[in-house]
Amino acid sequence: MLKVCRRLATALLLATAPVAVAHAQDAQRPVMAPVPAQGTAAITVRADTPGPVYDKRIFTQFAEHLGTGIYGGLWVGNDRAIPSTRGFRNDVLAALRELRVPVVRWPGGCFADEYHWREGIGPRRDRPVKINTHWGGVEEPNTVGTHEFMDLVELLGAEAYVAGNVGNGTPQEMAEWIEYMTSPAGSLAEERARNGHPEPWAVPYFGVGNELWGCGGNMRPEYAADLTRRYATFIKAPQGTRIIKIAAGANNDDANWTEVLIREASRQIDALSLHYYTVPGGWPPRASATQFGEDKWALTLAAANRMDELITQHTDVMDKYDPEKRIWLAVDEWGTWYAGDPGTNPGFLRQQNTLRDALVAAIHLNIFAKHADRVKMTAIAQMVNVLQAMILTDGPKMVLTPTYHVFHMYRDYMDGTVLPVEIQSPYYNAGPSTLPTVSASAVRGKDGVVHVGLTNADPDQPSTVTIRMQGVTPGAVSGMVLTADEMTALNTFDAPEAVQPATFNGATVQGDTLTVTLPAKSVVMLDLR
Ligand code: AHR
Repeated sequence: MLKVCRRLATALLLATAPVAVAHAQDAQRPVMAPVPAQGTAAITVRADTPGPVYDKRIFTQFAEHLGTGIYGGLWVGNDRAIPSTRGFRNDVLAALRELRVPVVRWPGGCFADEYHWREGIGPRRDRPVKINTHWGGVEEPNTVGTHEFMDLVELLGAEAYVAGNVGNGTPQEMAEWIEYMTSPAGSLAEERARNGHPEPWAVPYFGVGNELWGCGGNMRPEYAADLTRRYATFIKAPQGTRIIKIAAGANNDDANWTEVLIREASRQIDALSLHYYTVPGGWPPRASATQFGEDKWALTLAAANRMDELITQHTDVMDKYDPEKRIWLAVDEWGTWYAGDPGTNPGFLRQQNTLRDALVAAIHLNIFAKHADRVKMTAIAQMVNVLQAMILTDGPKMVLTPTYHVFHMYRDYMDGTVLPVEIQSPYYNAGPSTLPTVSASAVRGKDGVVHVGLTNADPDQPSTVTIRMQGVTPGAVSGMVLTADEMTALNTFDAPEAVQPATFNGATVQGDTLTVTLPAKSVVMLDLR
């Protein structure tokens, strides 16, 4: 394990945009914020200047035809050993309902750009068996198609985000799929009725392809912008309904992609996506999901923090062309990506999930609060059994991951009002990685309760955080904490409750100030009533 060195530097982090630093009369010399000692941090919650809505769609989930993400993880069909409803396993549905999943993105991912919707409708026994060329080269039975996906969405009480095929499909195929799903009348609506669903479905979100710079067609941004304009033209919602068109956006820091797409296609789209994965050690993913020391812990959390700078970079570009912020930035793929678990098909992207992933999730959810004026949707990759999953299954067994618990702890953020936070935190360093020790966000929930989400990245030391509430006087404080003795703690089928949220008693209130002791390596959610 690398020796940890700690710096007495301070991060002054305003979780509002843009970052502002007070200046002295001599404009060259910034007024230095007081330096919090290691093991302490200071936060001001600006309840007096409420920000934008923390859109519930930030909690969108992504379910791709990949590995056992759909087959086995969600869909079990008539397998009597696993109780199910309309083919979807009851245990997984119940767990996902607890998260109040607002939107599900489907069928990909890379899979979307070679998916032909007609192969997934009609009697299941007649559907063609294809090869999933992206993910493991295994057979894709097309058992889960449009009707089954819409069943899933309905069973979860969620909305549908369907990703269309720009890569090797035509605009006509895309237009007809939309008509099949949404039209109240016409031959395609009649075909839908014959297949069991007379009523049209709502398709509130439609993706104009996926990763057109890569698996979606290896396009240049200029070509992708032209195709986006063309395909989006034929995404037509029936009268009285609306489809939000989400263009396939940039990878990581490719600001040029964002610039070209928004400059050339802004009139045809409502949102532009961004994909950024936390890949410790870089591409291709090779770090273990479960075997790591403090160097990889810090490397991973520092990589997660990079989401903040990337969103700033892309929103700066978007602001040039869309200062009114009509077009959303939809970070519709994010999360950790490690080497697959030993013994699994490398094409299945099956990885375990530790306390480290919980910190990654909470850091992201805090960052999204800071950018909630532009970021209206994000989707963690993925829902079940793939990458940074909520849930892992193995046959009839199911386990909830630490990431699941973070999503549960943060669920009251949905559609609340962001309360900007100003954070002064020391840095945590390990090996070559440096990141603020404490991250935070605050939201006034729709129920009026103020929720404050906090993380402490330091794996060894607690952090005493002083939180000044400006514009609201906290009455009672309660909370939940997610932590464990080991950084590598995880839930398994044999020990499913090794990492579990517990009641948090580490906060006290005096006047407008809270004093909170965050345990080492923890996520804490406070509720102020
Ligand atoms: O989530 C796995 C894959 O990552 C998706 O299919 C693709 O869009 C991205 O590269």
